[in-house]
Parts: sequence; structure tokens; C-alpha cells
Amino acid sequence: MRCVSWLLLGTCLLVLGPAVQGAPSQCPTLCHCHGDLQHVICDNVGLKKIPQVSEATRLLNLQRNNLSSIPTGAFSESKGLISLHMQNCQLREIGSQAFKGLKKLIYLYLSNNEISSIKPGAFEDLTELTYLYLDGNKIGDLAKGIFSPMINLFILQLNNNKLRELRPGTFTGAKDLRWLHLSGNELTTLHPGSLDDVENIAILHLDGNKLSTYPSPAMSKLRVVEELTLGGNPMKTIPEYAFQSFGRYMEKLHLDSMGLEKLSDGAFTGVTAIKSLHLDNNKLRSLPRSLEFGTITNLTLYNNPWSCTCQLTPLRKWMDSSRIRPDALCASPPQQKGKQVRESTAFGNCKAKGRRPRKGTRH
Ligand SMILES: *[C@@H]1O[C@H](CO)[C@@H](O)[C@H](O)[C@H]1NC(C)=O
Ligand SMILES: *[C@@H]1O[C@H](CO)[C@@H](O)[C@H](O)[C@H]1NC(C)=O
Repeated sequence: MRCVSWLLLGTCLLVLGPAVQGAPSQCPTLCHCHGDLQHVICDNVGLKKIPQVSEATRLLNLQRNNLSSIPTGAFSESKGLISLHMQNCQLREIGSQAFKGLKKLIYLYLSNNEISSIKPGAFEDLTELTYLYLDGNKIGDLAKGIFSPMINLFILQLNNNKLRELRPGTFTGAKDLRWLHLSGNELTTLHPGSLDDVENIAILHLDGNKLSTYPSPAMSKLRVVEELTLGGNPMKTIPEYAFQSFGRYMEKLHLDSMGLEKLSDGAFTGVTAIKSLHLDNNKLRSLPRSLEFGTITNLTLYNNPWSCTCQLTPLRKWMDSSRIRPDALCASPPQQKGKQVRESTAFGNCKAKGRRPRKGTRH
């Protein structure tokens, strides 16, 4: 988790290392420099070319300039860089070896450009890179092994691009990846094996894509997912055992606004730690038997045509004992229509479900 707290500061205040002996150099024209050129700030100053900075520079901020591309060797004199900011630079392409020499780089910000092409070998030398931001671009395809130099990659931000599918080999080498953000793409398919190289992902955002079936074969290699968002994908059902391989870890699950008609009876098998579950804006009438409410502290259910029959008894019992009592209107049977589940009289004569055996010895 190194550097996460720096990340949260936004603009990084880097811990400055010992002064590097480098060729003396001046602050690039139009830029501001601090700390003996350790920070070089050229934010929105009309640069058309990437300035050369010396090995002493740790942070280079080039955001909001019109740079359009990164030529090979652009940073060959800048071997000391730890943080490189190139958001909003109208970049269209990342060429092969664009970052050559940046063996100390930890943060790379390329958000909100026009990047549609990342050439094979583009990320060569980025072995220390831990945070990579590529959100808000036009990336439609990722070459096999494109991230393979990044053996320390921790966060990969790819929200709001044009990715259509994930294939095996896409994440080869990035074995420490923990946060993978893919919201707002055009994903229709996560091929089996496409996530096998990143089995330690903890946060996986897939909301706002075009997945029409839950990609069980790709997901089943994941072991420690704590947060999964699938909202806005046009999926009608969630299959049996969907979350089983990481169910003990999953605390947050977003399944809102998907047009879901059914959660299979065993969909939640193995899910034992869930705190936050979002099922609003679907077409659900019932909840599956495998869903255990015991750990839930945040639940949304509104805009579903709930069928207020005995099958919702576990939900009602949880509502009766919970501090939160989420909105959920009965759509059927006719005499319950329009009533809140939490107030409905439909459950008075339902038999309490047999208590499940306690699993108190599980960790
Ligand atoms: C940015 O630079 C490219 C080529 O150098 C040019 O075609 C384009 O018009 C420039 N865009 C702006 C907004 O200045
Ligand atoms: C419940 O979860 C939603 C979505 O993550 C969040 O916005 C909201 O703040 C949470 N509510 C509580 C009480 O934690």
C-alpha cells in the first residue's frame, strides 16, 4: 500500500531524495521550478513540445498543454522522475518506448487525452510504476502484454474509454494489481482467462459497460475481491455461484440499474461478509435463498416489482431488526400492491425459515 496516502493528496508532495549530481540545467522556458529543479511545473503554459529536464527532477507537471504525442526518447534525460503529469494534453498516441529511461517513475497521469493507440512496448522501462491513470481516453484495444513491465502496478484506471473486450494476456506481468477501474467502457465480453494474471484484485469496477451475461469463467479466478460494481450492464440474471471464489472478502456489491429479472437461488453462495448491497432499479420480484442478511448495513432495493409473499420473510425479519429500513414497494400480490415491505402484513403467517447452522469457527 505504499504511497497511497500521497495519492490522496492529489498533487503529490514527493519525499525529496538526496540531491542528484546531474548536468546543471535551467528551468524550462514558461515553467516554474522549485527545490533546485526537483519540481518542474508547466501547467497550461502553451507548450507544444515536451521540455527536457535533468536527472534532478522528481516531478514534472505538463498538464493542459497541446502535446499530441510522446516521441520515443522524450524523457531520456529525465531519469530521476517519480511523478509525471500529462492530463489534458490532447495526446492521441503513445508510441513504442515513449517512457524509455523512466525506471524510477511511480505515478503516471494520462487522463483526459484523446489516446486511441498505445503501441506495443509503449511502457517499456516502467518497472516501478505503481499508479497508472488512463481514464477519459479513446482506448479501444489493449495489446497482449502491454502492462507486462509493470510488476509493481497497484492501481490501473481505465474508466471511460472504448474497450470492447478483455482477452487473456492483457494484464500479464501486473501480478500485484489491486484496483482495476473499467467503468464506462463498451465491454461486451471478458474472455475466460482474461483476469487470470491479476488474481489479487480487491476493487473491480465494471459498471456502465455492455455485459449481457455475468462472465463467470473470467471472474472465478479472482480470490480477494472486496468491491465489485456491475451497475448499468444489461444483464438479466446472476448465475449460481457467481461470487463464490471471493465471497468471503466481498463487502460491497453494486447490481443496480441492470434490468435484472432474477438472482439465481445460489447466486450468493459463499458470500459471507457483505456490508453494502445495491439492487435498486431492476425488475426483481424475489431474493435468492443464498443471500444472508446478517452482515448487511447498507441495502438499496427501490424500483423493483417485489412480490410480497413468504419468500421475502428473511428480508422482512432483517428489516425488523435493522437500523436501516430501505424503501421497497410490493407490486404483488394485488392486496399488497403499493405497500412497503417493511409495513406489509403479508408476512404474518409465514413460517420462520429454519436457522442455518452457525459457522462460528470460520475465519
Ligand atoms: C494542437 O496541436 C496540433 C498539432 O500540433 C494542432 O493540429 C491542433 O490544432 C492543436 N490544438 C489546439 C487546441 O491548439
Ligand atoms: C450506502 O452505499 C452507497 C453507495 O455506495 C453510499 O453512497 C452511501 O453513502 C452508503 N450509505 C451508508 C449509510 O453508508
